[in-house]
Amino acid sequence: MKTFNEYLEMVNKEIKAIPYPQSPSNLYEPIAYTMALGGKRIRPVLVLMACDAVGGDVSKAVKPAVGLELFHNFTLLHDDVMDNADVRRGQPTVHRRWNDNVAILSGDTMLTMATQYIGQVEPQHLAAANELFNATAIEVYEGQQYDMDYERRREVTVEEYIKMIRLKTSVLLGCACKLGAIIGGADEKTAQALYEVGENLGIAFQLEDDVLDVWGDEATFGKEIGGDIMNNKKTFLMVNAFKLANEEQAGRLRRWYTDAYAMKQEKVPAVTSIFEELGLREIADKAIGEYTQKALTVLESIEMSDDARESFTALAASLVNRNK
Ligand code: IPE
Ligand code: IPE
Ligand code: MG
Ligand code: MG
Ligand code: MG
Repeated sequence: MKTFNEYLEMVNKEIKAIPYPQSPSNLYEPIAYTMALGGKRIRPVLVLMACDAVGGDVSKAVKPAVGLELFHNFTLLHDDVMDNADVRRGQPTVHRRWNDNVAILSGDTMLTMATQYIGQVEPQHLAAANELFNATAIEVYEGQQYDMDYERRREVTVEEYIKMIRLKTSVLLGCACKLGAIIGGADEKTAQALYEVGENLGIAFQLEDDVLDVWGDEATFGKEIGGDIMNNKKTFLMVNAFKLANEEQAGRLRRWYTDAYAMKQEKVPAVTSIFEELGLREIADKAIGEYTQKALTVLESIEMSDDARESFTALAASLVNRNK
């Protein structure tokens, strides 16, 4: 097994080698801009790690790994339009730096590039890789639609929330693990178990993203703090706040919630206070620990070297303790 940074380097080298046509520059520059801004590259690293863990040839997984990163970055371009977000990875979002149409069309192009990269697997794995990727992509869109729908719905249960984030976020981490396993020649049972490792890590990952959106450090996180609160997103925190608030707290929450003209400087600290009164940061941390533990339990059941198991365990720990 290699270190996280060694996998990362393989991924980044391939990303640097992506050939972009010169024109139309308003189509390709935003793609190059986005891909060059980095990000954590969790998904492509998971592809390589899973491939390695099942004894596969990691070099054969690099192009498909970059394919998943292209797909992820495509979802971010469109997500930032939908969420009206100004900043990503510490820089202006594509729709702000250019415009919405550019973000839509550059995103479309990235999606198609993603399928081209994912298609670069050995012929005997092509059907399985395509089937997995296509099913996952549609689930992500379903999750994004629930996310949007829930902005306008006051009552969202914790179960509905978990279903939504499983779709919008965690299936892609599951897909990353399973894709690596498929390319590495794993049997279906092992590939499916690795999917479940990624899926549970992905739920913990989105819970942490919700936490960082409220309590993160803007410069480190690279996104605007309080964006979810301003958008009335049904995050883990908001869903539980409505569930746990007493009458007085619920009244305050509803007031901020329905005030379409609330100023960011007022609404974000006020709603954050309610979250803190309810101890929601601790409740979220507990849930993050539980889903990470679920992932590690499934990991235990998979046959692999101690070295490989340690790589996944270390990655899981770094996702839980991240600040960006
Ligand atoms: C952001 O994903 C979108 C979520 C699913 C929370 P990441 O947190 O992996 O973003 P980057 O790629 O590291 O910027
Ligand atoms: C993003 O969820 C999920 C996808 C992009 C599919 P968020 O909207 O929470 O992601 P960030 O916080 O903007 O990165
Ligand atoms: Mg979103
Ligand atoms: Mg967003
Ligand atoms: Mg978020």
